[in-house]
Amino acid sequence: MQFADHNHHSELANDVLICRCLKVRLSTIADAIEVCGLNSIRDIRCATGAGDGCTACHIRIRQLLHQRAVERDAAMLVP
Ligand code: FES
Repeated sequence: MQFADHNHHSELANDVLICRCLKVRLSTIADAIEVCGLNSIRDIRCATGAGDGCTACHIRIRQLLHQRAVERDAAMLVP
């Protein structure tokens, strides 16, 4: 996944834990979004299990989904 901002690069490099309940890391969620084309928390939950516990990670997953959508839109504007 290509994230524009620096924090996401270091997060991805460190493969941070996004969902503590289900022990799901950023790389797994990034692949679900990028490779599998998932675009909702519900789909991410079904595919990875992330977000199936306390739901505290939903805001972070939502951010990742939003960021990817913004990047996708920006890429469409490039000739
Ligand atoms: S941190 Fe993801 S469900 Fe609790």
